Amino acid sequence: MAEPDTPPVKHSNRKTLLVAFAVCLVCSLIVASAAVLLKPIQMANQSIERKRILVEIADLMKPGLTVAQAYQQVDIFMVELSSGLVTDAFDPEKFDITKAVKDVNLSIPLQRNEDPAQIRRKPKYLPVYRVNDSAGKLKTLILPVYGYGLWSTLYGFIALQEDMRTIQGLRFHQHAETPGLGGEVDNPRWLALWKGKIAFDDHWEPRIELIKGTVGTSTPDSHHKVDGLSGATLTTHGVTQLLNFWLGKEGFGPYLIRLREERERS
Ligand SMILES: Cc1cc2nc3c(=O)[nH]c(=O)nc-3n(C[C@H](O)[C@H](O)[C@H](O)COP(=O)(O)O)c2cc1C
Repeated sequence: MAEPDTPPVKHSNRKTLLVAFAVCLVCSLIVASAAVLLKPIQMANQSIERKRILVEIADLMKPGLTVAQAYQQVDIFMVELSSGLVTDAFDPEKFDITKAVKDVNLSIPLQRNEDPAQIRRKPKYLPVYRVNDSAGKLKTLILPVYGYGLWSTLYGFIALQEDMRTIQGLRFHQHAETPGLGGEVDNPRWLALWKGKIAFDDHWEPRIELIKGTVGTSTPDSHHKVDGLSGATLTTHGVTQLLNFWLGKEGFGPYLIRLREERERS
């Protein structure tokens, strides 16, 4: 018996390309829409995380308090870095460092030799967080700090006690260093080493050193030194550089001078 004739299958390159294009278009639309729709949620989560770190570093989280309640004790304002003057030209709660450094009116370029934190452009203004005691005197001053580690820019806060010299704490809220290596900047055991260290020398020059190995009581100038992270010398170096930069004259130096002068007058 003769086989029935089956019609030959037609392969059309045009059709294949059209289907592939349609699939790509639909997928990219889904991804783009998800990114746009999730952006406000991501921003809100980042803001909550920043606030949680701020209240923790200032030791404001007491039992029964929410982050929002504890955060009410934090005064936040904008400072012009070059003059150290407080300004109300911007809303500090809405200030975004990453946007500011892309704006030529809100940031200035740094030459290589003036950029140890490797940030390339320095914002002209930054927020400052202050917690006062019941008499209205400074209890904790929290400054935003950031700079390059090995793979990423580390964004964080350093908190200084009322003498503006002793470190209350250090925390990072954003970075992409390797977990287990540079990522150990988030390790609570390492972070605990910072409390009580002295951030400035006798002439108010920033002096923070991260050393290879362990700082012991017999280490000379141990109050300026913190253990480096083992296997993460490059991230450790970045942390040292960024802290000394932001506490120095190119960073919050002028503002800190003003605060010290204010305290001496009062
Ligand atoms: C996959 C990989 C990831 C690494 N991540 C980091 C890091 O996040 N931070 C860092 O300082 N070094 C990191 N390193 C190690 C550095 O390349 C370098 O060896 C190290 O900083 C030297 O530190 P040490 O002198 O304490 O050993 C990484 C290495 C590899 C292979």
